[in-house]
Amino acid sequence: MTTAHAIHPCPAWAQAFIVHDTLEGLSMAVAQRIAQISAHAIGERGLFRIALAGGETPRRCYEQLRHALVDWKHVQVYFCDERCLPYGDAARNDTMAQEALLRHVAIPAGNVHAAIAERGARIAAMEYADIVEHALPFDLVLLGMGEDGHTASLFPGNPATKQDDTVVPVFNAPKPPPERVSLSMSALNGARAKIFLVAGEAKRAALKRMTHGDALPAACVLGAEWHIDRAALPEELVLAGR
Ligand code: 6PG
Repeated sequence: MTTAHAIHPCPAWAQAFIVHDTLEGLSMAVAQRIAQISAHAIGERGLFRIALAGGETPRRCYEQLRHALVDWKHVQVYFCDERCLPYGDAARNDTMAQEALLRHVAIPAGNVHAAIAERGARIAAMEYADIVEHALPFDLVLLGMGEDGHTASLFPGNPATKQDDTVVPVFNAPKPPPERVSLSMSALNGARAKIFLVAGEAKRAALKRMTHGDALPAACVLGAEWHIDRAALPEELVLAGR
């Protein structure tokens, strides 16, 4: 049994900040939240549109989500970002999502909308925008955060963070591969709900900078529910929560 607690007051850019004792607890809790939000969306609108994140922390959550109660035939899956690598490459976010989650659940293949990132960032961004624009607003975007405060494939100082098109091409990413395609900051912000999953000590410095007002990309996604593990929690937020 793992426990979690909310930080009050939480930073201005977040809607809620929930600290979990362990990565496993975090992953299970977010999987339950996704199931809850999906049931609400399906009840209200007949479908649930989710954009998935890449990265190791989201992967752990997807493994838990396999076992959650989700009406998969009414779920439409999109991706917050994709790495420009050959289709099926083990480092692609859609490959990871297939292996960790999608091939284990009863989702129709036509409900999974991947970016054709192997065609290069510029073409992939244009083509994915055509697909994604019919899906807006997303009911939920899931996001990870890198050690430098990037989210999706929006990296600090990269021109893609300032572009307003729904889907943006990304070049010169500091994390390999350098070429990517990403939902834009405005597309992320337009989602009905946003959830961050952040774990590990290596993330603490970026969270600390954001708490001090540094507008790193992850802090520019406004009103998200943040789920972090204890290792990622900076002292500033421990104090704020007392
Ligand atoms: C990517 C991801 C990226 C990821 C974070 C966190 O393509 O790299 O979309 O935004 O979510 O870097 O990843 P970890 O949980 O592995 O640190």
